[in-house]
Amino acid sequence: MRALDFNNKWVLITGASSGLGYEMASQLARYHHANLIIAARRGDKLNQLKTDLERDANVQVKVVVADLSLPEDVERLIAESLAGQELYAAILNAGITHFGPHAELSQDQFQRMVQTNVISVVRLTGELVKHFEQSGATGGIMIVSSMAGIFPVPYQAAYSGTKSFLIGFANALAHEIKSRALSLSIFAPGGVVTEMTATEKFNDLQGWLMPVSQAAKEGIYALKYRKFNYVPGALNRVGNVFMKFLPKKLIVGILAKTYQRSLLKVNSSDKT
Ligand SMILES: NC(=O)c1ccc[n+]([C@@H]2O[C@H](COP(=O)([O-])OP(=O)(O)OC[C@H]3O[C@@H](n4cnc5c(N)ncnc54)[C@H](OP(=O)(O)O)[C@@H]3O)[C@@H](O)[C@H]2O)c1
Repeated sequence: MRALDFNNKWVLITGASSGLGYEMASQLARYHHANLIIAARRGDKLNQLKTDLERDANVQVKVVVADLSLPEDVERLIAESLAGQELYAAILNAGITHFGPHAELSQDQFQRMVQTNVISVVRLTGELVKHFEQSGATGGIMIVSSMAGIFPVPYQAAYSGTKSFLIGFANALAHEIKSRALSLSIFAPGGVVTEMTATEKFNDLQGWLMPVSQAAKEGIYALKYRKFNYVPGALNRVGNVFMKFLPKKLIVGILAKTYQRSLLKVNSSDKT
């Protein structure tokens, strides 16, 4: 398959109002001259990004304010992505976590997480694959999962489950795609410096986090070169291979202790 060339092409990015999505949108516009459809709930952030990129990178940016935990907003995003311009690529990046004991995650929060991280992604992917299969057009779809989907992370148990689902789903679906012009990639970062990790609960783990500009650059690389499963960062990739040779119980146990330590520090500072 030939690498994707984003120049003057339309790319959908969900969760573009902050973090990884914001950075991938910026880099795609500034360095690859892509036109963008950017989606998230915070319209003010999206509109500011549109203004900046249209001015600085001379590209076109379409804003879709959508809450992807709501099925009707997901349908509207699909319709707006496929009407009015020819979609070339999509990065399904929007996601939320809960960092803390699973017992503290309410049923409402859990349902919102599943709707956002899983159900909206499955719906968007399904409709986009159908679109590309029917048109035969060249394109790429990338789902943003996480290393937490490869190795379960205690104290992010539900989040790990959602990200693991995405890996299973996309790896299976990729083999159902008949079009030779369409690729489906999975991007699985380890920790990244974004709003998601900008909580004191992550203070002890800051040393593990990758700068968002690097993660975004590698994400665009994975989409462009149609990588099947891609983990950014050489150390993460080595760790990923290495950990496959160790018993899962041991690795998950080490992760549990590390995350618990970080959480305990916050709890104990709450009491002082
Ligand atoms: N940071 C990490 O360490 C890390 C590691 C591995 C994977 N990831 C994955 O990377 C992706 C991006 O996360 P991030 O780290 O960049 O976090 P972030 O800065 O919190 O960004 C999350 C993005 O998702 C959007 N979003 C959240 N809920 C939404 C909803 N209901 N509807 C529409 N948009 C919604 C947010 O926009 P609004 O709030 O404006 O809606 C925001 O733009 C996520 O899928 C995350 O799981 C992150």
